[in-house]
Amino acid sequence: MEINPSESTRMLIPDDLLAQVASLAQEAGEFLLSCQANVVANEKDGAHNLVTQADIDCERMVCQRLQGLLPGSKFLREEEASDGDGNSAALWVIDPLDGTNNFVHGIPQFCVSIGLALAGQLELGVVYDPNRRELFTAQRGQGARLNGQLIQVSQRPDLQHSVIGTGFYYDRGDLVTRTLAAIQRLFDEPIRGIRRFGSAALDLCWVACGRYDGYFEYRLGPWDYTAGALIVQEAGGRCSDRDGQALRVDSGNVIASSPQIHADLVRIVAYSR
Ligand code: IPD
Ligand code: CA
Ligand code: CA
Repeated sequence: MEINPSESTRMLIPDDLLAQVASLAQEAGEFLLSCQANVVANEKDGAHNLVTQADIDCERMVCQRLQGLLPGSKFLREEEASDGDGNSAALWVIDPLDGTNNFVHGIPQFCVSIGLALAGQLELGVVYDPNRRELFTAQRGQGARLNGQLIQVSQRPDLQHSVIGTGFYYDRGDLVTRTLAAIQRLFDEPIRGIRRFGSAALDLCWVACGRYDGYFEYRLGPWDYTAGALIVQEAGGRCSDRDGQALRVDSGNVIASSPQIHADLVRIVAYSR
């Protein structure tokens, strides 16, 4: 399923679907804040990859409500079993809590991320940051917004003036070595700075509103970047996979940036380099 907001088949969806999903994401984000007083972290896959009851409860609540908004829709989600893929007529791609390590450590950088693809075409993206009360939304062909105001990717002309975000998957092997090597190459360029804040969906939204000029991460789940990728593209940015090819829901990695620096960023951080 290619993530490319071009004009093609558009399934009939309610006019106010974006508003309803946005309000659900806000409710889910406020729920996460309310869980912070009592966080119990369990290890999913080693000590780095955590899950809390808040991840699970939030995902259940969000999926139940989304099913009501679009009956018959399928889910690609992080915590419970998925029942859909890129061929589904309507597919919700959900990360109920992106930034679980931050959440567990009391670091206020996490969000709720909800994307919708219709017959393989991304249609809606909603990301809510409850700590800043920032709501990022996009609908295909209608631009991207932050708290209702249209947003645009950075206008900075080149990598030298750029701040680039990145992230490390939970795997501690080759991916870390390659990510650190790519960061070194970026510093050699040189760039203005590197950031690693720990929520891929917010990293993408920060590209969309021009805080970061670009962002890359070598391994992700579809729920980490599907909504954010539409928000970046609708804000005028470019997204590709880690080798500069078309981004797909199953790519499992991303390079996102303003159009001005995308080719240079891909040249420097391409995984296959
Ligand atoms: C993680 C965050 C992090 C990224 C990891 C993701 P999670 O998601 O987005 O920034 O570096 O690769 O898995 O586990 O907190 O939902
Ligand atoms: Ca995530
Ligand atoms: Ca998550």
